[in-house]
Amino acid sequence: MIIDQLHSAFEKQFGASGTLYASPGRINLIGEHVDYNGGYVLPGAIDKAIYLEIRANGTSKSRVLSIDFNEVVEFGLDEADKPQQTWAHYVFGVARELIKRGGKIQGFDAAFVGNIPLGAGLSSSAALESVFAFALNELFACGFEKKDLALAGQGTEHNYAGVKCGIMDQFASVFGKKGNLIRLNCGTLEYEYVPCLLGNHRLVLMDSCVKHTLVDSPYDRRRESCEKVVEAIAKKHPQVRWLADVTWDMMKEVQGEVSAEDYKRAVYIVGEIERVELVCSALKKGDLAEVGRNMYITHDGLRDDFEVSCEEIDFLNECAKKYGVLGSRIMGGGYGGCTINLVAKDVCDNFIEKTKQDYHAKFGIMPKVYDVKVEDGARRIA
Ligand code: GLA
Repeated sequence: MIIDQLHSAFEKQFGASGTLYASPGRINLIGEHVDYNGGYVLPGAIDKAIYLEIRANGTSKSRVLSIDFNEVVEFGLDEADKPQQTWAHYVFGVARELIKRGGKIQGFDAAFVGNIPLGAGLSSSAALESVFAFALNELFACGFEKKDLALAGQGTEHNYAGVKCGIMDQFASVFGKKGNLIRLNCGTLEYEYVPCLLGNHRLVLMDSCVKHTLVDSPYDRRRESCEKVVEAIAKKHPQVRWLADVTWDMMKEVQGEVSAEDYKRAVYIVGEIERVELVCSALKKGDLAEVGRNMYITHDGLRDDFEVSCEEIDFLNECAKKYGVLGSRIMGGGYGGCTINLVAKDVCDNFIEKTKQDYHAKFGIMPKVYDVKVEDGARRIA
């Protein structure tokens, strides 16, 4: 078992035992690219996680073993001590973000291992940040609230990994609750749990096994497009801070003033913000057909207006339609990764088998399939 593997690696490396923690990856039913626009999203934590064993070592240096990278990195906790290894930036960054917020973090020994597929859009980096934030907060009795731990994870992305992400991934990883999605207002960080009641349906992730790295940092460019539209609207409506505050009438007022490209990015976002509300009430009523219908509309918007999909993912989306899946769309930041599919149990096996065959025939790649369960967020496990 993964925990036994972790524990023996920790003992071997550090000659002692520590405390065990876990923090999961996430799915997002709907509300894509909405977090940095201040709207609602509907993520949940999943049954795949990063597992961590950790203890204070009484020195000013930290030693961290990544079992997956088979590498130990040692670093101090001052800003100048940033390690070379990319994976270690996340650990160092979390410690620094907690220190900046007043946490009295000292040297620690840690080992971690994960079973979240990398590059699949399941937020393995947020899970890594969250597990360290959660553990360091306990280990050094910092007294931070869970919300601050999520913010420290996001700060790590911004300041130590160079990704200007929103708050959704870290929030889901910290606040996840078994059997529930989180209806999170990314503007205020208020949230409620929404039971993920799927009746005779399952959530299946189809991993395209491709991740297109695009040179011009498209995630940041999408953000900038949204900000430009907000800027134009705010000249006429100063109360508007982000696209979550924007109405269709306001959009029309600036249509001729912003570029056609920026405009269609914003059209997707304003529509997506409405769809999250539709999906939340549909889910509460058990109207899964309405949930699925909106997922397909979201995919079309992400493909045509926000333009963060790719050929492989669009193909998987078409397979979902062809094989009777109720709802399907690209999930996460985009340009590859997974589709999330809401599938009736009786068509599930056929959908999976046929899609695998079709995708392999077309791209020469066998997609991976994950049957996800919605689980608890960051926690101590022993
Ligand atoms: C990535 C980011 C999130 C969010 C999604 C898109 O996962 O880390 O903050 O913006 O993309 O919804």
